[in-house]
Amino acid sequence: MSKGLFITFEGTEGCGKSTQIKLLAEQLKAIGHRVRLLREPGGTPIGEEIRHTLKHSQNNRAMTAEAELLLMNASRAQLVREIIRPALAADEIVLCDRFYDSTVAYQGYGRELDLAKVRSVIEFAVGETKPNLTFFLHVSQEMSEQRQRERQTSLPLELQRDRFEEADRKFFERVAHGYGVIAASEPQRVKFINGAQPMDVVCAEIWKTVQPRLPKVGRW
Ligand code: TMP
Repeated sequence: MSKGLFITFEGTEGCGKSTQIKLLAEQLKAIGHRVRLLREPGGTPIGEEIRHTLKHSQNNRAMTAEAELLLMNASRAQLVREIIRPALAADEIVLCDRFYDSTVAYQGYGRELDLAKVRSVIEFAVGETKPNLTFFLHVSQEMSEQRQRERQTSLPLELQRDRFEEADRKFFERVAHGYGVIAASEPQRVKFINGAQPMDVVCAEIWKTVQPRLPKVGRW
């Protein structure tokens, strides 16, 4: 049986997931696990081009919500088949910064696309490949906005414009509500974490949940 483990990180802008996923990857590597650290949209050469189109391209201003949904899932379909499935089959631990819960939260709740259609596009993109465990890092709208502003200034010029961050406050409130619904409906898979806590506290909470699920490593 495959020993692979698939863990995803979710939350709104500035929730701290990208920092925490790196910390978890380091902890896992330090005790001998083989780890694949990925992000969505992106994670493959094709996916990274799609990411640029979705987020930073000057030509994306007129993008419709429907095109956005399909591009997210085009990137995902590629990532699942090119990287995630082979990695899990090789007993690696796959950590992904966002996965399909982002689509439900952003395109379903945020952009208000029909949820049944959103789910059916996701189903087509991922098939049987679903996360074993998901961390949902929650921060308030105020903290999210403050962290976005701080991050913005440290980015290289070509990454400073981000189409998602141009959305209004109501959009992000709907996204946050969507995440709340997802976390409440799948409590076995989705672990709610208060992302406003100090970094080391969040890290310890994540480790406490991950550790008992780890496959054994070492010599046979
Ligand atoms: P990030 O990598 O900085 O989190 O940026 C990714 C952006 O894309 C973020 O604003 C959330 C958005 N997104 C969606 O809207 N739907 C999706 O399915 C995914 C994976 C991301």
